[in-house]
Amino acid sequence: MVHSGPPLRVGILGAGGIAVASYGVLPNLHHYSDTVEVVALADVDHLRAAAVAAEYGIPRVHRSIEDMVAGGGLDAVANLTPIPLHHRTSKVVLEHGLHLVTEKPIASTLAEADELIMLAEQHGVEIVCAPPDLLREPFRKARELVAGGEIGRVAFARVHSSHQGPGGGPSGWPSDPTWFYQRGSGPLLDMGVYGIHQITGVLGPARRVAAFSGITDPVRTVRGDGPFAGLQIEVTADDNTLFLLDFGDSAYAVVDGGYNLHASRSPRVEIFGRRGVINIGVPDGPELEVFKTDLVPGVDGWVDPPRPIAADSTRAAVGRAIIVGHLADVVLGGARNELGADHARHALEIMLAVEISARDNRIVELGTTFDHGSSTRQELP
Ligand SMILES: NC(=O)c1ccc[n+]([C@@H]2O[C@H](COP(=O)([O-])OP(=O)(O)OC[C@H]3O[C@@H](n4cnc5c(N)ncnc54)[C@H](O)[C@@H]3O)[C@@H](O)[C@H]2O)c1
Repeated sequence: MVHSGPPLRVGILGAGGIAVASYGVLPNLHHYSDTVEVVALADVDHLRAAAVAAEYGIPRVHRSIEDMVAGGGLDAVANLTPIPLHHRTSKVVLEHGLHLVTEKPIASTLAEADELIMLAEQHGVEIVCAPPDLLREPFRKARELVAGGEIGRVAFARVHSSHQGPGGGPSGWPSDPTWFYQRGSGPLLDMGVYGIHQITGVLGPARRVAAFSGITDPVRTVRGDGPFAGLQIEVTADDNTLFLLDFGDSAYAVVDGGYNLHASRSPRVEIFGRRGVINIGVPDGPELEVFKTDLVPGVDGWVDPPRPIAADSTRAAVGRAIIVGHLADVVLGGARNELGADHARHALEIMLAVEISARDNRIVELGTTFDHGSSTRQELP
């Protein structure tokens, strides 16, 4: 976005992993220096906040969200706190009439999400919600291809939305990952949320959910060479969850959201249509590839994608800063909010439905929806 006026004045809430990781917010915000200025940082861990503020030249340091908003001079806050704190802290932001960027998920209950959406409407401010995948080229393109009928009517999709868990890999996890494994968080909310946003972003809102879920090892030991290596974590949130989404018209998706995926040689997302297949995130392959029936009459085959479509060039360049940059595009440039709260609420309803389905051994109907912008379940001509 080309912008000549003053930048959006942003306060960062939470100076932990996603604030400072190489793929996180602060190390990549310089890409948006014409539209975003970080003027304050708040964290309950004041020493950490002070160190991070000094490293990134952030002028003001606070101990709480209340303290930061009371300091004034802000247009928006980026909420990078742990999952169970999102609603309480985001509420303070919106009550002060500030725009909000929030890490995922938007809240922990539908009532909380509704309250945040209502507050944003009352104050005329925007909410931009992670995850940001729908801003990225492979998902934009997949959505366009499906909506344009390029792979025909979608029959089913398979979505990997798991990893080995925070601190589960050989490289050191920088902060204490305990909260990720405990009730109120867990991989469904931490990781499954990506697959849910991705597949509903491409196919549209889901209608029903069926799930299995459980705990694998009740105690996890932090791996790697980080400061918490060897820490024993009591696992109180399900760490192994698989679920089915029904989009209506016989279109389904199977999604995993767990901390048990050490490696995979299959694409992150596969969408199977009556006239083709879309793969997104092919290991050691392109970010997007397409198989089409009758590529030329009588011949089916894979389309070799040209470079700009295949390469997800934005991912490495702007990391998680993209969510803050998107808010600036929306507020300052009038761009459409592609990461809106209605979609995040629908994703949250799916996550809550997964928990109910697995617990009560039943299929759960969904009540929320969001403006997806196009019909994706193409009829064959
Ligand atoms: N770490 C990652 O790689 C990663 C990636 C994508 C998204 N996220 C998301 O980012 C969010 C934060 O995760 P993280 O890994 O950075 O966690 P973290 O534990 O590393 O950092 C959280 C920070 O928030 C601070 N904090 C806690 N309560 C607070 C409060 N009330 N007010 C202000 N600060 C408070 C903590 O002191 C800590 O510094 C989560 O929603 C997570 O799902 C994390």
